[in-house]
Amino acid sequence: MTEAELYTEYKGVYLPTHLHPQGSLKYYEEFTFRHDDILIVTYPKSGTTWMQEIVPLVQSGGDLTPVLTVPNWDRVPWLEETRACVLNLEQRASPRLFSTHYHYNMMPASFFTVKPKVIYVMRNPKDVFTSSYHYYGMASFLVQPGTQDQFLQKFLNGKGWLNAKDQDRTMYISYEEMIFDLRDSVSKISQFMEKSLDSEVIEKIADHCVFKNMKQNKMSNYSLVPNEFMDHNKSEFLRKGIAGDWKNQLTVSQAEYFDAVYKNQVKDIKYKFVWD
Ligand code: A3P
Repeated sequence: MTEAELYTEYKGVYLPTHLHPQGSLKYYEEFTFRHDDILIVTYPKSGTTWMQEIVPLVQSGGDLTPVLTVPNWDRVPWLEETRACVLNLEQRASPRLFSTHYHYNMMPASFFTVKPKVIYVMRNPKDVFTSSYHYYGMASFLVQPGTQDQFLQKFLNGKGWLNAKDQDRTMYISYEEMIFDLRDSVSKISQFMEKSLDSEVIEKIADHCVFKNMKQNKMSNYSLVPNEFMDHNKSEFLRKGIAGDWKNQLTVSQAEYFDAVYKNQVKDIKYKFVWD
């Protein structure tokens, strides 16, 4: 299907219509946050699912029940997706856990007055590109990626959360830090969530969330999604789970082109990225 058939434009961003029908956008805009809500914010393919595993485990003090019995999309639902309307989020106990892929300037009005906590996960954009390329190939509700060069052109057309205000309510963490030291990352996340955990619990959470173990969790590995929507034979959702896979994907000239465009796009952002 074409982009026009698959996507809806909302505040200048193209969204897959299948996941964001009009009703869900209205629900999103009118959503009321609580101050102790925790919102995981990511650009898609930066480690959303990983954080949807870690944060509930920190919240439960290492009890695996929530992550072994509830799919990630209900456990830490995307506020902007159609399921948010039917999950009775208003009835959930605090602190509620949510996800979003939306930009800072797309947050509902309540976000700016209530100021929930934010965990912003970022990842080397060349690895985000690589992960996205495989994902677009397997997800039927996204436009086919075409050739790698065509997809690169589309991918590089595009800011937000690193310039957010109220940064004392925001934790910035990268996929690469989590790969480098997951235990230390879980410890930092628990401090940010004001949840004091024993070192054995932190160890247990990190062990469960390491790629090869988390990949086995059918409540988090997207194997519950029928092949009609995600063709798991083309690519798994929990695909490789490493930092630097872009080196296996991009040609030297594609990587140079990527760096040139990306450097220009982030030139005003005062943040030292671990991958630079
Ligand atoms: P790859 O395609 O590079 O393997 P998102 O959840 O934001 O869509 O991101 C998906 C990416 O995060 C995929 O990257 C997936 O494998 C990776 N991922 C998910 N869980 C992970 C884990 N426990 N450890 C490392 N990477 C993980």
